[in-house]
Parts: sequence; structure tokens; C-alpha cells
Amino acid sequence: MIIGIIGAMNEEIIELKSVMKNIAEENIGNLLFFKGELEGKNVVLVECGIGKVNAAICATIMKEHFDVDKIIFTGVAGGVNPSINIGDIVVGEDLVQHDVNATAFGYRLGQIPRMDDYKFNGDEKLVSLAYETAIDQFGKDKVWKGRIVSGDQFIASDDKIKWLKETFDAFCTEMEGAAVAHVCHTLDVPFVVIRAISDKADSEANVDYGEFVKVAAKNSKTIVEGILRKL
Ligand code: ADE
Repeated sequence: MIIGIIGAMNEEIIELKSVMKNIAEENIGNLLFFKGELEGKNVVLVECGIGKVNAAICATIMKEHFDVDKIIFTGVAGGVNPSINIGDIVVGEDLVQHDVNATAFGYRLGQIPRMDDYKFNGDEKLVSLAYETAIDQFGKDKVWKGRIVSGDQFIASDDKIKWLKETFDAFCTEMEGAAVAHVCHTLDVPFVVIRAISDKADSEANVDYGEFVKVAAKNSKTIVEGILRKL
């Protein structure tokens, strides 16, 4: 079994890399993949870059080149549900691309034309495992399971948060998860997206993000290690 682990930014993968063993590097395009062992499991780790297309390219390479059996996406997100605080963890039960709009043809917001559904479900077993692992590590009050919405937008606006909450009942928002979910759906790869909250996607989001991104990324990474131990 080989597990693909993707983070969008260096901050989100650097610590996992630091505890990996027997690392072999492989460049594909301008992406640098690290093959090795983590918690006794065979893994491939990569920083995919920011945004949906970068994430989709990476997830596709993970499956087609490295033949991974599962994909774990780890990183940070902006909180949308007002009960969720900076530092909390959200495990994606399902994921939606909030910037997709073909409503002119009768599709729901988020639904890609001619696809059956508007959301992509995380793998049930991986989602449960991630949720339970996160609760063990951080306690029930800080861990959430629900919808993650993704778009090629850094959200820093009260109006947009309200819209994401009302339209999608989103728990948090980020820029890659639903694209990975889309690829995994198409290529039949079980996946889970785990996000730690770095900001509340409001007018202070850029400031909070700068302050909390490293701690949040660390929280997300701790859960990935916990999951690997149990797989
Ligand atoms: N990742 C972390 N915070 C975010 C935000 N507010 N919007 C989009 N992606 C994010």
C-alpha cells in the first residue's frame, strides 16, 4: 500500500518531510515528489502549489505515476461556520467547488455541467479515521466534520462568508480540496481532506492567516501522522 500526501504550501508539508525516512526525490514537471516511509508506511509527499488546477495536476500524478492507494490532503483553511475557531480542525465529509456556476442551465451552484452531483464525498473510512484521530489528539470541542468548499479565491469578506454558509452550509473554505476530490472521484481513489483553521475568512483573514498558518499546519500534520499509524 502506498499513500499519497498532498499539501498546497511548503508550510503544510515541511514537518512531515522532516520525519520521513529513506527519502527518494522525483521531479515531475516543476513538482518535487518525496517517496519514503512515514510511521512505517510507504508514502509519497508533495507540495502541489496553490489553487484548484495545481491540486488537480498533483492528484492525477499521484494516481497515474505513483499508483497511490489513498490520498490524504493536509493543510489550512478559513473558517466559515461561526462556531469554528482558529486552530480547530475540519475533516471534509464532502467537498464542493464554490466558484462553479452553471445555474443558467439549471444546475445547482457548485455543480459542474453534465456531472451527476455537485459535491464529492470523502472516503467514509478515511473520514471516520481522521475525525476520531483528531478528537483523540485535540478533543471533541475543536474538531468538526462537514462540508469544505474550495475555489480559486482567498476569502477575506464577511459578505462572502455569509454567502458560503447560506449557499453551501460550508464549515470552512480553501483553494484545493474539492479539486483533489474531483480527481479522486474520477480516478476512483479513496481520499480525505483535513484542514486546520488559520483564519476566519473575514476582513482580518490575511493578518490572522500570517500569524496562525504555521500552528494550524502543524495541527493538521499531527493528525496525518496519527492516521498513518492506524492504517
Ligand atoms: N486558506 C486559508 N485561509 C483561507 C481563506 N480565507 N480563503 C481561502 N483559502 C484559505
